[in-house]
Amino acid sequence: MDRAEKGAFITAVAFMGVFFALIVYAAKGLNIDVPTCITDVKPFTQGQVIQHAPDRYEIHYLAKMWYFEPANVEVPVGSTVDIYLTSADVIHGFQIDGTNVNLMAIPGTVAYARVKFDKPGVYHIVCHEYCGIGHQDMATKIIVKA
Ligand code: CUA
Repeated sequence: MDRAEKGAFITAVAFMGVFFALIVYAAKGLNIDVPTCITDVKPFTQGQVIQHAPDRYEIHYLAKMWYFEPANVEVPVGSTVDIYLTSADVIHGFQIDGTNVNLMAIPGTVAYARVKFDKPGVYHIVCHEYCGIGHQDMATKIIVKA
C-alpha cells in the first residue's frame, strides 16, 4: 500500500471512530434530556384522572376512534399534570394547544409528558395524526380554573 493511501485509510478509520463515539454520546444524552418519551408503564384500557395533591395530577388518556378518554378534565391553575397516553386501536396524535406537549398515541405503548398550567383557560387537545373518518372531530380539552 502506498504511503498516501495508508494515510488516507487511517484518517478514514479515525473519522469513523469519532463519528461512532458521537452517535453513542448523542444517544446517551437523548435518554436524559428529551422531556417526552415512551415509558415502561403498561398500556391501560381506561382513561382516568388521579389527584395526588391539590396541584398535582396524573391523567391517563386513552385515545380511541374518535375521542379521548377522559374528556374535559378540570384542574386548578398552577397544577402540574403528568400525562400518560396510549391508544386502544390505531395511531393517534395528541397535542395540547398553548403548551409544548405533542405526543403520539401508539397501541401497546405509553407516551409521557409533564405540563404545568400557569395560566387559567381552556386548553384544546387535538388528534394531529390522520386516523380515519372521524379524525377531524377527535378532540378534547383541559379546563384550567382560576
Ligand atoms: Cu385520532 Cu386523528
